[in-house]
Amino acid sequence: MIGIARLGIIGAIVAWTALVGPSSAGILDQFSWARADRIEVNLPWLPFENESRCYDELGCLNITRSWYHLIHRPINIFPLPRSVINTRFILYTKKNPSEGQILNPNVNKTIVKSNFFAERPTKIIIHGFIDTPFSNWVSEMKDELVKHGDYNVVVVDWAGGSLPLYTQATANTRLVGLEVAHFLLQLQKYHGLNPGDIHIIGHSLGAHTAGYAAEKVEGVGRITGLDPAEPYFQGMGNHVRLDPSDANFVDIIHTDGKSILLLGYGMSQPVGHLDFYPNDGKEQPGCELAAGPLIPLTLVRQGLEEASRVLVACNHVRAIKLFVDSINGKCPYIGHQCPSYQHFLDGKCFNCAHGCAIMGFHADSSPGLITHKSNQSENEVTPSNTKENLGAKYFMTTGKDYPYCQRHYRIVINLAHPKGAESWVQGFLKASLHSDRGVIRGLDLTPNNYVRLEHGTTHTTVVTHPVDLGGKIRKVELSWEYDMNVLEPRSLCLFWCNDHLYVKSITVDEMELPTRGKRNIDFKNKLCTPKRDFAEIPNRGSANFYDRCAL
Ligand SMILES: *[C@@H]1O[C@H](CO)[C@@H](O)[C@H](O)[C@H]1NC(C)=O
Ligand SMILES: *[C@@H]1O[C@H](CO)[C@@H](O)[C@H](O)[C@H]1NC(C)=O
Ligand SMILES: *[C@@H]1O[C@H](CO)[C@@H](O)[C@H](O)[C@H]1NC(C)=O
Ligand SMILES: *[C@@H]1O[C@H](CO)[C@@H](O)[C@H](O)[C@H]1NC(C)=O
Repeated sequence: MIGIARLGIIGAIVAWTALVGPSSAGILDQFSWARADRIEVNLPWLPFENESRCYDELGCLNITRSWYHLIHRPINIFPLPRSVINTRFILYTKKNPSEGQILNPNVNKTIVKSNFFAERPTKIIIHGFIDTPFSNWVSEMKDELVKHGDYNVVVVDWAGGSLPLYTQATANTRLVGLEVAHFLLQLQKYHGLNPGDIHIIGHSLGAHTAGYAAEKVEGVGRITGLDPAEPYFQGMGNHVRLDPSDANFVDIIHTDGKSILLLGYGMSQPVGHLDFYPNDGKEQPGCELAAGPLIPLTLVRQGLEEASRVLVACNHVRAIKLFVDSINGKCPYIGHQCPSYQHFLDGKCFNCAHGCAIMGFHADSSPGLITHKSNQSENEVTPSNTKENLGAKYFMTTGKDYPYCQRHYRIVINLAHPKGAESWVQGFLKASLHSDRGVIRGLDLTPNNYVRLEHGTTHTTVVTHPVDLGGKIRKVELSWEYDMNVLEPRSLCLFWCNDHLYVKSITVDEMELPTRGKRNIDFKNKLCTPKRDFAEIPNRGSANFYDRCAL
């Protein structure tokens, strides 16, 4: 036990994997959660099984067998004492945007004398592992929220319980959840707070804490889970982790969903009503480790901010950055429901008819969510057709830095196959798009690698750019560069082969906006070469296409 504890979570999981043997190694793959329920837990002795602890006015916590899982959650312990975790609630409003007021749910006058006002929507921010309310992101998020509207913004401080070891921190979140629930119930009972007006925003372990809190309060309006922590939660039952039953509306941003063995700290499993996977939700642009050893987050003692600076937690922190950016940003983060990110990049899920939703702060204004005025709450949001849609993944591409939010363009290149053309060529494509309202120059259509283009077929790709052209595309200039790959002799194109690209037409459309999508109804535009059936583009050459296609 002590040995495992000293190794930390990675060590623990590796150790358990070793115990269980090689046949179960595959259980740790990204789809493990799908099969998790079918794995029998059959351990001879589970520490703390059937034990419970009570915490005065907060109620009790128990550990039953359902909290254990051979692979996903081999260890369960009880939280540190309340006085050690020392959960605190710090209120900010438009009246006190920078000087927080400490609210103590058991001391009525701290609430009565504060700027808390129950008629306002209440936003609650919960930080995660090795993090504190003094992280820059917490004040950035608080500032953006205060700027956005007249809210009670409450920052939950559980820094006394968020330090390594991870196992202890996960246990502490259960107690912090009870503290938050007690706080909310007091506000409801004595100050008229409407649970439907509560929106809890939690990062990492804070996302599951939000789930623990909200399951104790009837009718919580919304939980936003920002890259909910994977280890000890993924693959576990609903009572252990954040799940859609915890609040009326649960939206999730996944940004670090690699397996924990690859040091991905976020869940890949969908756990909300809407689950967003920007850039496939595993590896974020701008977070690539150039070189050097992988350092487990558990070994970073200086806190999350430092960990993200040295890229250890860059992917894990990205969910926060996207959410903060979405609060007051003008660019909509549109996610499209799609079987996979590759399908999305191939332009197969570009239409809101397939299902689309807005990621981030404004997720509750996504289409498909019914906003109805109930008698108790002004704007209660309930996801429609939830049953069928649960588990659906929404994809998008973002930038690697501010502005993260980008416009998506789908470009379909219709290739000709005249006599003399090779059956396929491979290389790089760039395009300049000219619309009535502006120009995007040098748009990279092959950002990741060269593409192989089969003459006589169409090639579709989705690319992004910060600029919103928002009008009909009048002209496209397409540039082509042949790629000679010495490792692939078939691709060598010297004097005996034709490295030209033959293009009949190009179709460009900008991603449809989910609300009032009418703007883009006739946005899709086909462009051709004047007076010719196709353009012949030499290596390192370019050709122009115009929106005047003969019928
Ligand atoms: C815990 O309770 C369950 C159900 O009552 C029982 O099957 C199990 O044997 C108990 N475990 C221990 C260690 O007492
Ligand atoms: C454990 O706690 C849960 C939630 O409070 C409760 O529903 C359940 O009955 C408890 N189980 C035992 C065995 O005490
Ligand atoms: C706290 O103060 C409010 C407003 O003055 C009052 O309605 C409520 O009953 C008080 N609660 C307690 C527990 O004294
Ligand atoms: C609101 O209350 C009225 C009267 O009590 C009831 O007829 C109506 O169905 C309620 N509406 C909703 C949305 O609950």
